[in-house]
Amino acid sequence: MTEVASVLYGREDIRRRVEELGRTITGDYVGREPVLVTVLKGGAMFLADLIRSIDLPVEPHFMAISRYGDAEESLGRVQILLDLDVDLTGRDVLLVEDIVDTGLTSRYLLSVLRSRGPASVEVCTLLDKSVRRIAPLEPSYVGFDCPDRFVVGYGLDFAERYRNLPDILQVDDLAALKADPGILAPMVRGAAAA
Ligand code: IMP
Ligand code: MG
Repeated sequence: MTEVASVLYGREDIRRRVEELGRTITGDYVGREPVLVTVLKGGAMFLADLIRSIDLPVEPHFMAISRYGDAEESLGRVQILLDLDVDLTGRDVLLVEDIVDTGLTSRYLLSVLRSRGPASVEVCTLLDKSVRRIAPLEPSYVGFDCPDRFVVGYGLDFAERYRNLPDILQVDDLAALKADPGILAPMVRGAAAA
Protein backbone atom coordinates (compact mmCIF):
# COMPACT_ATOMS: atom_id res chain seq x y z
CA MET A 1 0.00 0.00 0.00
CA THR A 2 1.36 3.45 -0.86
CA GLU A 3 1.40 6.05 1.88
CA VAL A 4 -1.28 8.74 1.81
CA ALA A 5 1.35 11.39 2.50
CA SER A 6 5.10 11.77 2.84
CA VAL A 7 7.43 14.38 4.29
CA LEU A 8 8.30 17.02 1.70
CA TYR A 9 10.13 19.51 3.92
CA GLY A 10 11.18 18.35 7.37
CA ARG A 11 11.23 20.65 10.39
CA GLU A 12 15.02 21.07 10.23
CA ASP A 13 14.91 22.07 6.54
CA ILE A 14 12.14 24.53 7.35
CA ARG A 15 14.03 25.98 10.32
CA ARG A 16 17.19 26.49 8.29
CA ARG A 17 15.40 28.02 5.33
CA VAL A 18 13.31 30.38 7.48
CA GLU A 19 16.49 31.57 9.21
CA GLU A 20 18.12 32.21 5.83
CA LEU A 21 15.08 34.18 4.68
CA GLY A 22 15.20 36.21 7.89
CA ARG A 23 18.87 37.05 7.34
CA THR A 24 18.23 38.06 3.71
CA ILE A 25 15.29 40.26 4.70
CA THR A 26 17.36 41.82 7.50
CA GLY A 27 20.04 42.75 4.96
CA ASP A 28 17.58 44.09 2.42
CA TYR A 29 15.63 46.26 4.90
CA VAL A 30 18.54 47.61 6.95
CA GLY A 31 17.68 51.03 8.41
CA ARG A 32 13.94 50.48 7.84
CA GLU A 33 11.12 49.17 10.00
CA PRO A 34 9.04 46.89 7.79
CA VAL A 35 5.41 46.05 8.42
CA LEU A 36 4.92 42.32 8.00
CA VAL A 37 1.35 41.55 6.98
CA THR A 38 0.16 37.97 7.34
CA VAL A 39 -3.08 36.35 6.41
CA LEU A 40 -4.65 34.17 9.05
CA LYS A 41 -4.53 31.39 9.65
CA GLY A 42 -2.04 29.59 7.43
CA GLY A 43 0.69 32.22 7.49
CA ALA A 44 0.78 32.57 11.28
CA MET A 45 3.30 29.78 11.99
CA PHE A 46 5.66 30.99 9.29
CA LEU A 47 5.40 34.60 10.46
CA ALA A 48 6.08 33.61 14.08
CA ASP A 49 9.33 31.91 13.10
CA LEU A 50 10.30 34.46 10.46
CA ILE A 51 10.09 37.56 12.67
CA ARG A 52 12.36 35.87 15.21
CA SER A 53 14.98 35.56 12.45
CA ILE A 54 14.76 39.22 11.44
CA ASP A 55 17.15 41.47 13.30
CA LEU A 56 15.27 44.74 12.77
CA PRO A 57 12.34 46.48 14.43
CA VAL A 58 9.50 44.66 12.67
CA GLU A 59 5.78 44.91 13.24
CA PRO A 60 3.68 41.78 12.75
CA HIS A 61 0.13 42.54 11.62
CA PHE A 62 -2.71 40.26 10.64
CA MET A 63 -5.57 40.14 8.22
CA ALA A 64 -8.26 37.53 7.86
CA ILE A 65 -10.10 36.91 4.63
CA SER A 66 -12.66 34.54 3.26
CA ARG A 67 -12.80 33.38 -0.31
CA TYR A 68 -15.87 32.96 -2.43
CA GLY A 69 -15.63 29.31 -3.48
CA ASP A 70 -12.18 28.24 -4.55
CA ALA A 71 -9.62 30.67 -5.88
CA GLU A 72 -10.18 29.82 -9.53
CA GLU A 73 -13.97 30.13 -9.37
CA SER A 74 -13.83 33.39 -7.48
CA LEU A 75 -10.97 34.84 -9.55
CA GLY A 76 -9.32 35.68 -6.26
CA ARG A 77 -12.15 37.86 -4.99
CA VAL A 78 -12.04 37.76 -1.25
CA GLN A 79 -13.90 39.36 1.60
CA ILE A 80 -11.83 41.03 4.31
CA LEU A 81 -13.00 39.66 7.67
CA LEU A 82 -10.29 41.31 9.77
CA ASP A 83 -8.52 44.39 8.50
CA LEU A 84 -5.21 45.95 9.52
CA ASP A 85 -5.14 48.48 12.33
CA VAL A 86 -1.95 50.12 11.04
CA ASP A 87 -1.60 53.08 8.70
CA LEU A 88 0.50 51.91 5.75
CA THR A 89 1.23 55.38 4.39
CA GLY A 90 4.94 55.59 3.60
CA ARG A 91 5.64 52.19 5.16
CA ASP A 92 7.63 49.28 3.74
CA VAL A 93 5.19 46.40 3.62
CA LEU A 94 6.06 42.75 3.31
CA LEU A 95 3.13 40.42 2.62
CA VAL A 96 4.00 37.12 4.30
CA GLU A 97 2.22 34.11 2.81
CA ASP A 98 2.31 30.42 3.61
CA ILE A 99 1.86 29.47 -0.04
CA VAL A 100 1.31 31.19 -3.36
CA ASP A 101 -0.56 28.81 -5.62
CA THR A 102 -2.64 30.35 -8.44
CA GLY A 103 -1.53 33.75 -7.14
CA LEU A 104 -5.08 35.09 -7.24
CA THR A 105 -5.37 35.65 -3.50
CA SER A 106 -2.00 37.41 -3.26
CA ARG A 107 -2.79 39.55 -6.28
CA TYR A 108 -5.99 40.75 -4.63
CA LEU A 109 -4.22 41.42 -1.32
CA LEU A 110 -1.44 43.29 -3.11
CA SER A 111 -3.97 45.57 -4.76
CA VAL A 112 -5.53 46.31 -1.36
CA LEU A 113 -2.15 47.01 0.26
CA ARG A 114 -0.90 49.13 -2.64
CA SER A 115 -4.03 51.30 -2.51
CA ARG A 116 -3.04 52.45 1.00
CA GLY A 117 -0.01 54.54 0.05
CA PRO A 118 2.91 52.39 1.23
CA ALA A 119 6.53 53.18 0.26
CA SER A 120 6.96 49.60 -0.98
CA VAL A 121 5.15 46.28 -1.04
CA GLU A 122 6.92 42.94 -1.53
CA VAL A 123 5.81 39.33 -1.13
CA CYS A 124 7.54 36.71 0.97
CA THR A 125 6.14 33.19 0.70
CA LEU A 126 7.33 30.03 2.35
CA LEU A 127 6.12 27.88 -0.54
CA ASP A 128 5.83 28.85 -4.18
CA LYS A 129 3.73 26.50 -6.31
CA SER A 130 4.81 28.42 -9.38
CA VAL A 131 3.62 25.84 -11.94
CA ARG A 132 0.01 26.52 -10.89
CA ARG A 133 0.18 30.28 -11.37
CA ILE A 134 -2.76 32.01 -13.07
CA ALA A 135 -2.07 35.59 -11.93
CA PRO A 136 1.46 36.65 -12.89
CA LEU A 137 3.20 37.21 -9.57
CA GLU A 138 6.83 36.78 -8.60
CA PRO A 139 7.41 36.81 -4.86
CA SER A 140 10.61 38.59 -3.85
CA TYR A 141 11.33 35.97 -1.20
CA VAL A 142 10.61 32.26 -1.60
CA GLY A 143 11.36 29.55 0.92
CA PHE A 144 10.86 26.54 -1.32
CA ASP A 145 9.73 26.08 -4.90
CA CYS A 146 6.94 23.61 -4.22
CA PRO A 147 5.93 20.76 -6.53
CA ASP A 148 2.36 20.60 -7.83
CA ARG A 149 1.06 18.59 -4.90
CA PHE A 150 -1.39 19.35 -2.15
CA VAL A 151 0.62 20.04 1.00
CA VAL A 152 -0.27 20.20 4.69
CA GLY A 153 1.53 21.11 7.89
CA TYR A 154 3.36 24.11 9.37
CA GLY A 155 0.24 26.24 9.04
CA LEU A 156 -1.21 24.65 5.90
CA ASP A 157 -4.46 22.80 6.38
CA PHE A 158 -6.84 20.34 4.87
CA ALA A 159 -10.35 21.13 6.19
CA GLU A 160 -8.70 23.02 9.12
CA ARG A 161 -6.61 20.02 10.13
CA TYR A 162 -2.83 19.55 10.30
CA ARG A 163 -1.79 23.16 10.80
CA ASN A 164 0.07 21.95 13.90
CA LEU A 165 2.30 19.48 12.06
CA PRO A 166 5.93 20.57 12.47
CA ASP A 167 6.84 19.14 9.04
CA ILE A 168 5.30 19.87 5.65
CA LEU A 169 3.80 16.78 4.05
CA GLN A 170 2.90 16.25 0.45
CA VAL A 171 -0.35 14.39 -0.02
CA ASP A 172 0.21 11.52 -2.43
CA ASP A 173 -3.33 10.14 -2.24
CA LEU A 174 -5.71 13.10 -2.12
CA ALA A 175 -8.74 10.87 -2.69
CA ALA A 176 -7.95 8.95 0.50
CA LEU A 177 -7.60 12.20 2.47
CA LYS A 178 -10.87 13.54 1.09
CA ALA A 179 -12.63 10.31 2.01
CA ASP A 180 -11.22 10.44 5.55
CA PRO A 181 -9.89 13.89 6.54
CA GLY A 182 -8.47 12.49 9.77
CA ILE A 183 -6.38 9.83 8.05
CA LEU A 184 -3.07 11.63 8.67
CA ALA A 185 -3.61 11.87 12.42
CA PRO A 186 -1.02 9.15 13.17
CA MET A 187 1.60 11.33 11.46
CA VAL A 188 0.71 14.24 13.78
CA ARG A 189 1.05 11.99 16.81
CA GLY A 190 4.31 10.67 15.43
CA ALA A 191 5.57 14.23 15.06
CA ALA A 192 4.69 15.11 18.62
CA ALA A 193 6.55 12.07 19.88
CA ALA A 194 9.66 12.79 17.78
P1 IMP B 1 -3.93 31.00 -4.39
O1 IMP B 1 -4.37 29.91 -5.32
O2 IMP B 1 -2.50 31.43 -4.71
O3 IMP B 1 -4.88 32.15 -4.40
O4 IMP B 1 -3.89 30.38 -2.94
C1 IMP B 1 -5.02 30.43 -2.14
C2 IMP B 1 -4.86 29.72 -0.83
O5 IMP B 1 -5.11 28.34 -1.08
C3 IMP B 1 -3.52 29.73 -0.11
O6 IMP B 1 -3.33 30.89 0.67
C4 IMP B 1 -3.71 28.52 0.79
O7 IMP B 1 -4.46 28.88 1.92
C5 IMP B 1 -4.51 27.59 -0.08
N1 IMP B 1 -3.66 26.56 -0.69
C6 IMP B 1 -3.15 26.52 -1.94
N2 IMP B 1 -2.44 25.39 -2.14
C7 IMP B 1 -2.51 24.70 -0.97
C8 IMP B 1 -1.96 23.44 -0.52
O8 IMP B 1 -1.26 22.71 -1.23
N3 IMP B 1 -2.27 23.07 0.76
C9 IMP B 1 -3.03 23.83 1.60
N4 IMP B 1 -3.55 25.01 1.22
C10 IMP B 1 -3.29 25.44 -0.04
MG1 MG C 1 -3.44 31.04 3.10
